Amino acid sequence: MRVAAVVIDALTNTVTLPSGASPAEELAAFRDVVAGCTKCALAQTRTQVVFGSGSPEADLMFVGEAPGFHEDKQGVPFVGAAGQLLGKLLGEICMSREDVYIANTLKCRPPGNRDPQLEEIEACEPHLFRQIALIRPKVICTLGNFATKLLSGRPDGITKVHGREQEVTLGGTRALLYPIFHPAAALYTPRMLDTLRQDFSRLPEILGRETAPPEPPAAVAAAPAAAPEPAPIPEPAAVQLGLF
Ligand code: URA
Repeated sequence: MRVAAVVIDALTNTVTLPSGASPAEELAAFRDVVAGCTKCALAQTRTQVVFGSGSPEADLMFVGEAPGFHEDKQGVPFVGAAGQLLGKLLGEICMSREDVYIANTLKCRPPGNRDPQLEEIEACEPHLFRQIALIRPKVICTLGNFATKLLSGRPDGITKVHGREQEVTLGGTRALLYPIFHPAAALYTPRMLDTLRQDFSRLPEILGRETAPPEPPAAVAAAPAAAPEPAPIPEPAAVQLGLF
């Protein structure tokens, strides 16, 4: 049997796979495309792109903010102190990092761990939507403000919306969006940690719910990585994100 080659076009940031490629194979090929991303200025200061880690077939996907110092060095999300806490909380609900998929709103470290900027979020957004389209998680758990505002398409902050699940369609995938506090914020604030733990404890029940039948898998020849998700509400991104 002749197997067609994976075609990666670095100019258009697209990947074309032989028909019959699994979503996991597509995700691996897409990772190679994103590794060379130069869509924003963070490409000049990063050590490497931090694409994501975990099971490509996970029902539960976490989306954080951006890689920090350790993530940038190791190429893996959530390996620092916040990541240790995330792992501990997963353990408390009898799950591990290998059971879930972990990604970030930005794939590259902002210098000095400053907040993500609007143009960086907009440049990186198609990468995240494509990951969601390929993984097709049942539940997307956003960690903190940036991921929550981006994926909900609303300016409401995490203090208001944490622990409240809502149905969304992202990357052509129907999922439950479940915003919770960012573990880094909870590290030094015991009350926030209690709330995070409480919200986390609801995850097994939310994951166990019957969900609407999934959308068909994304087309085998991947859409251009730059293809934007239709805006959920007709407000400028800056307003949606509450950045200004
Ligand atoms: N590490 C990450 O990978 N993402 C965050 O948001 C924080 C720490």
